Amino acid sequence: MSNIAIIGAQWGDEGKGKVVDLFTCDADIIVRFQGGNNAGHTLVVDGKKTVLHLVPSGALHPNKLCVIGNGVVVDPQILIEEIDALKAQGQLLDDSLLRISEEGHLIMPYHKAIDLARERLRGKGKIGTTGRGIGPAYEDKVARVGIRFIDLLEEDTFQEKLRHNIEEKNIYLKAILKEKTLDFDEIHDTYSSYRERLRPLITNTSLLLHREIHAGKRVMFEGAQGTLLDVDHGTYPYVTSSNTTTGGACTGAGVGPQHIHHVIGISKAYTTRVGSGPFITEQFGPEGETLKREGVEFGATTGRPRRCGWFDAVSVRHAVRVNGITGIALTKLDVLTGFKKVPICTGYRFDGRLYDEFPASSKVLDKAEPVLEEMAGWSEPLTAVRKFSELPAAAQKYVQRIEKLLDTEIILVSVGPGREQTILLKNPFDS
Ligand code: IMP
Repeated sequence: MSNIAIIGAQWGDEGKGKVVDLFTCDADIIVRFQGGNNAGHTLVVDGKKTVLHLVPSGALHPNKLCVIGNGVVVDPQILIEEIDALKAQGQLLDDSLLRISEEGHLIMPYHKAIDLARERLRGKGKIGTTGRGIGPAYEDKVARVGIRFIDLLEEDTFQEKLRHNIEEKNIYLKAILKEKTLDFDEIHDTYSSYRERLRPLITNTSLLLHREIHAGKRVMFEGAQGTLLDVDHGTYPYVTSSNTTTGGACTGAGVGPQHIHHVIGISKAYTTRVGSGPFITEQFGPEGETLKREGVEFGATTGRPRRCGWFDAVSVRHAVRVNGITGIALTKLDVLTGFKKVPICTGYRFDGRLYDEFPASSKVLDKAEPVLEEMAGWSEPLTAVRKFSELPAAAQKYVQRIEKLLDTEIILVSVGPGREQTILLKNPFDS
């Protein structure tokens, strides 16, 4: 019985939602294990687009158990809205198909207020966060003052923690951030109503997963964001505040590593990034504009235009290593149609030195120039191709070159947003 993890190999938005959706047919349980509603997983099923921020993508398939693990930070208002929207379109009708970890942390109004105010004060040096309170919620978790779902369920614990936090946050909001303070009663009452709504869904999800895995159920761990946004392995400090890499699936779902048999890294056939921070292969001219237009590169969560550039083999090879990626799903190959030359970055050059492994230094990442290998382009549209052998020769060579540079098998090539616009070379659940 294989369990698989689906992990972003770049800066997020690689098309994980579509790949998760494809493999969901072969899974019984789909687990989110980190991040929060900073994620936006776009799924197109029968031409209809759904964007999910918190509920695992399995919700679009009947009878799949969806789990929000302890590593996720949850804005309960957004979760309830998402559940309601899914129900309204005839999905997730059975409440027993969604479970939330009692150890998951809540995003509170002060987290959002702090996130937004800090970004404003940072001015030019801003991280470009999604403004959803993700960083401040993880800060509280690590500082041991966060409020978990289990705390919300216990009225006295909730009151005590909330009172203490509001006292502290209000001083910080007023004196340091020059923001309005927040009201205990208002937050208490709102969150108490969320408690009643979500109570039936909250449980020990680590134990649930343990039992289900031992009963032979197949699990898919659905990553959010991407490796280069990982707080340990990404382009720090321009990262999100969680471990987006495979290790995060163990801690964020409460399962041992022996239960993850395959790690699928999702990478676009080029590169995009939202928010600030280094991006060595970024294209500022017409080629970047073409990638943005043809790839419809606008954030699913904030609507911000994504920065676009060429495929960067150095950073994706780094992702292969830190995640233990066993297979790559290469997405949006169709977007590259029409370019005369399609460059691939094979190294970075800075201060007379060649880097062929991903550097940790912000200075190097900021200033390095890409070493580009120019591949021949193709003009044929790819969106109707369903077999690798039917791809234009230049597109085949492009994919094979990436496979060689990454030293990792490409198991899937995506040529459009629809489920059917996929060239499946190997199903990880079959091995
Ligand atoms: P935060 O996660 O809102 O704190 O934002 C930190 C950084 O991660 C910013 O650069 C965001 O643009 C980026 N980010 C967060 N979530 C996503 C995502 O789902 N896709 C792409 N970038 C993201």
